[in-house]
Amino acid sequence: MTMTVDEAIRERRSVRAYENRPVSKDLIRQIIEAATFAPSAKNGQQWRFTVLSGESKKQFTDLYRQELDKLDFDLGSSYGSCNMMEKVPVVLIVWNTNERGWSTEVHSVAAAVQNLLLKAHSLGLGTCWIGDIFYTYRAIMDYFKKPWNLLAAITVGWPAVIPKMKPRLSVDEVSEFLE
Ligand SMILES: Cc1cc2nc3c(=O)[nH]c(=O)nc-3n(C[C@H](O)[C@H](O)[C@H](O)COP(=O)(O)O)c2cc1C
Repeated sequence: MTMTVDEAIRERRSVRAYENRPVSKDLIRQIIEAATFAPSAKNGQQWRFTVLSGESKKQFTDLYRQELDKLDFDLGSSYGSCNMMEKVPVVLIVWNTNERGWSTEVHSVAAAVQNLLLKAHSLGLGTCWIGDIFYTYRAIMDYFKKPWNLLAAITVGWPAVIPKMKPRLSVDEVSEFLE
């Protein structure tokens, strides 16, 4: 059964608990392909993805945890995000090629991420966008040695728990109509 765009948009959740079962490379390719259909500044397609599973994911989460341990201020949900990335079968690292240095390049990659999240949901996969990796931005950049900028990490797995919808502001609260 296919999902309508409206269903995908309304029913997607940030999933933080996953089943202990792998996600095939084919499904990962499908969600990345959906990302590549996003609009982008000057069609620059500034998104790049590093797909981590198994040992490569463990090395990444070990680095992240070690770097968090070095910080001595409030790290918010960072350790929770770390636990999640340790348990989920796949973590995507999302990069922004940032070739022009335009802020709009960031927007392109964020649009791609949203496509990816919606496609994953339509396939029954759960995802969570992890911004907490920015607490250790420099260390992650040094670790991967890419010529791009870190934009996000995304967990991808089979949902064990599907959370309730988080409250949303209404259209009236977020809009003004000027005539
Ligand atoms: C830029 C961005 C960064 C986020 N970072 C984190 C994070 O580090 N850890 C986490 O658990 N959730 C993270 N989230 C998920 C949000 O908490 C979530 O989208 C929000 O609470 C709304 O819930 P929903 O996605 O289920 O609708 C992030 C979402 C975005 C868009």
